[in-house]
Amino acid sequence: MTGIVDSWQRQINYLRISVTDRCNFNCIYCTDGLAPSAINSDNLCYEEIARVVGVAADMGITKVRLTGGEPLLRPDLSRLVGMLAQVKGIDDISLTTNGMLLSRYATELKRAGLKRVNVSLDTLQAERFGRITGHDRLKEVLDGIEAARRIGLNPVKINMVVLKGINDDEVIDFARLTIAQGWHVRFIEYMPVGVRGEGDDSVVVSAAQIFESISVLGTLEPDEGEDGNGPARYYRFTGAEGTIGFISAMTEHFCRTCNRLRLTADGQLRPCLLDDDEVDIKTVLRNGGGLKELEGLIRRAVAIKQEQHHLAEGIGPGKRSMRQIGG
Ligand code: 5AD
Ligand code: SF4
Repeated sequence: MTGIVDSWQRQINYLRISVTDRCNFNCIYCTDGLAPSAINSDNLCYEEIARVVGVAADMGITKVRLTGGEPLLRPDLSRLVGMLAQVKGIDDISLTTNGMLLSRYATELKRAGLKRVNVSLDTLQAERFGRITGHDRLKEVLDGIEAARRIGLNPVKINMVVLKGINDDEVIDFARLTIAQGWHVRFIEYMPVGVRGEGDDSVVVSAAQIFESISVLGTLEPDEGEDGNGPARYYRFTGAEGTIGFISAMTEHFCRTCNRLRLTADGQLRPCLLDDDEVDIKTVLRNGGGLKELEGLIRRAVAIKQEQHHLAEGIGPGKRSMRQIGG
């Protein structure tokens, strides 16, 4: 097992890279009420991102994921994928997207070296989709999912943020698709974070509640086959092709197995999604910093990783919205 060991004996081998904080949707649980143009957009260029990844890979990072905002809004993202695919030591490049532009780019992303995608999708109902995301684009997203599967960006995982009274009546419909269509679905507990969400846990539906709701469809067997480290617990209905994952930030700490570091679009290393502490790497990159300096910053970011977050006690990040951190 590779990785940089943190203060809590965790192996950090996974870097999530936000390439933009712009988004073409405006999801009710994610938006910060700022116009996209009001968000700082002095982003790292692809060469700078690739430089960070090169240094990180030498230190033991093997997996990277591109996130946003919506990463496919960044022009020519396949070029970045191609650059990262050349980095020695990186053996897994993935993408988290809202799917809106996926059918357009799936082929070139795959060709550039992208392995797999996660698509955020919170409802299968067109009208509700419009209400949740602010855009009437369910069809485009479903087309994107199908294109990604056809082209082999597998496993395509569907991320559903479950919100009480908003889409929680659809968990069975999503679960059924793991049997009927072989979808891989992950149910995500809503995290009340960011500029707006702070402390509002009234819409949280626990993983345990979701588990119980979908159990009417059959027996869920643990399926630890894939992914290894990471926040999700996986299950599978007997005989189903697809899996079901639960990401329960609120009711169950997954921090013990946390293996990740984040790089924000504006060039900050962020040790934890849910902690505002960051290490500025952009300034050093732009001042011609050398290998040792960059390594030192990555090491520092790993060193300040907290043991766990405290969201359930109402303590979360306030500085950035989800859209800026990339979930
Ligand atoms: N709580 C839980 N999940 C969230 N995401 C965005 N905001 C939140 C939130 N407040 C999810 C997105 C996406 C992933 C990157 O993070 O739906 O699937
Ligand atoms: Fe955009 Fe994703 Fe946030 Fe929705 S959850 S507004 S798709 S970044």
